[in-house]
Amino acid sequence: MTSPNEISHAAEVLRSGGLVAFPTETVYGLGADATNDLAVARIYEAKGRPSFNPLIVHVPSLEAAKALGQFDLFSESLARAFWPGPLTLVVPRVDNCPVSLLASAGLPTIALRVPRHAVALDLLRATGRPVVAPSANLSGQLSPTSAQHVREGLSDRVDVILDDGACEVGVESTVVRIVDGAPYLLRAGGITRESIEQVMGQKLMTPIDTTDELHSPGQLASHYAPRARLRLDAAAPDAGEIYLGFGTDDHGPYSLSHGGDVVEAAANLFRLMHEIDALNPQAIAVAPIPTHGLGEAINDRLRRAAAPRGHT
Ligand code: TXA
Ligand code: MG
Repeated sequence: MTSPNEISHAAEVLRSGGLVAFPTETVYGLGADATNDLAVARIYEAKGRPSFNPLIVHVPSLEAAKALGQFDLFSESLARAFWPGPLTLVVPRVDNCPVSLLASAGLPTIALRVPRHAVALDLLRATGRPVVAPSANLSGQLSPTSAQHVREGLSDRVDVILDDGACEVGVESTVVRIVDGAPYLLRAGGITRESIEQVMGQKLMTPIDTTDELHSPGQLASHYAPRARLRLDAAAPDAGEIYLGFGTDDHGPYSLSHGGDVVEAAANLFRLMHEIDALNPQAIAVAPIPTHGLGEAINDRLRRAAAPRGHT
């Protein structure tokens, strides 16, 4: 149902920063070039996500995954047992990982998956880059298991929709993270708990069982925080501060968007905070950011980053 021409066209659209909906064995994904900050920001915008939940990065092989994330023996054994297939592994990012920090929502980890659908694999190989893909639906709505679902929900927000019929599994992938040799189930999904426990030879733990912040990103008030203190809604920097600006009035070196575009601002947010943080300022003064569109998610993350730190 999907021709080689359609796939190479879709790969070209991805490489030039566009959005492509494509089938996987679980649900249809909304894909973008994971190495392109602006393309990743467009995903959050198209879905209308109110906050930057980290996204799954899709690759065609374990070898490609190892170029992006650090696999310990347990993660590797799960990958070998279930890839290609509906398992997502959360692992530490490698140094100089080319994937946008926005895809990791500022976390030091990356979620990786090799899907088992032929069209998805062909698309990933043809694109030659890692592809982020959340389910291809508006935030808060049902996940799409056919191209028709994608058309109904997102058609005007997607550049290409590859149609290859209904999805085989129909629920999203299982998300697992290994911490110090112990497996945690971050999301139940297409691979059962039992089959993972069999491969691991131990029980899967649920993050609810622990208060360790590592296992529940986004749950804490203070999160996604740089080392430097943040001062929000700042009109200008005070002494010792570096200014993170926004909009046409700002001519400083660190602007989220000179043009005042919230999509561009989202694309730049985590990368610029990292860059500024590396300079060890006394504080980062952040310009007011509008609250419309992706501005809501940007303000959410800025508030978390500015919240009193519960830990160091
Ligand atoms: O089956 C699937 O996984 C589908 C298809 C398209 O592959 N994709 C999907 O992606 O469901 P998404 O973005 O809707 O779900 C991503 C899940 C979320 O539960 C998110 O919190 C988790 O993965 N996740 C991603 N990166 C993470 C990270 N670094 N740490 C912890 N959880 C992460
Ligand atoms: Mg989803």
